[in-house]
Amino acid sequence: MNASPTPDVCLRGVDVYSGFLDAPAQQSLVDDLRRVVAEAPLIQPVTRFGQPLSVKMSAAGAFGWISDKRGYRYSPEHPRGTAWPAIPDSVMAIWDAVSDCARAPECCLINHYSTTARMGLHQDRDEADFSCPVVSISLGDDALFRIGNTTKGGKTESIWLRSGDVAVMGGDARLVYHGVDRIAAGTSTLLKDGGRINLTLRVVT
Ligand code: SIN
Ligand code: MN
Repeated sequence: MNASPTPDVCLRGVDVYSGFLDAPAQQSLVDDLRRVVAEAPLIQPVTRFGQPLSVKMSAAGAFGWISDKRGYRYSPEHPRGTAWPAIPDSVMAIWDAVSDCARAPECCLINHYSTTARMGLHQDRDEADFSCPVVSISLGDDALFRIGNTTKGGKTESIWLRSGDVAVMGGDARLVYHGVDRIAAGTSTLLKDGGRINLTLRVVT
C-alpha cells in the first residue's frame, strides 16, 4: 500500500488511486474475504419484483445491503439470520488511508461479478451522512466503470478499474450516478475462477 497516496486520476470528481494495492496486498485481501464469505455466504439478490441481480453479494460490518422481495435496504443481519462478520483490518486500513473521514465504515459491501455480470447506473443514497465518502476497492478482472452526474441523465464518462485500484466517491461526487458496463474476462489471475470482486465501504447511519 502507498504510504501517503495521491489520486492518479480524478474523473467527474471521483478520485482513482491506480494500483493502490500491490499483488501481495491484493492476495491477502482475497484471503481475508474468503474468511468473511465462509461465515456470510454470497447470495444472489433479487429485486422486489423477483428479478435476480447479476452480481452476487455479501457484506462485513454492522450492516450489509440486501435486496429481496421486500425491497432493498441496509440490514444488520445476513438473510440467513446471523450478524455480518467484522470488517477485516486490511480493509479498514484502506479506508483510513484514503477516506479523509473521521467516522469508520459500517458496511463493507462485497459484490462478486462473474464475467457476464454488470451493474446499472445508480446512486448510493441509502446512507444517512453524505459527508462521508464511499470507498471502492477493485480485485480481479478489469471493470469498465461508468460515471455520470449527480442527477439522472446527461453525459457520462468511463474508466477501466483494475485489480488493486481504489476509487473514492466523496465531496461533490458523493452522489454521482455510477455503474459497471462490463467485465473484461481473463485480465487478472487473482481470483482462481476469474471474475471480479468489488468492495464498497460506507458509513450507513
Ligand atoms: C457499487 O456501486 O456498489 C459497485 C461499483 C463497482 O463494482 O465498481
Ligand atoms: Mn454504488
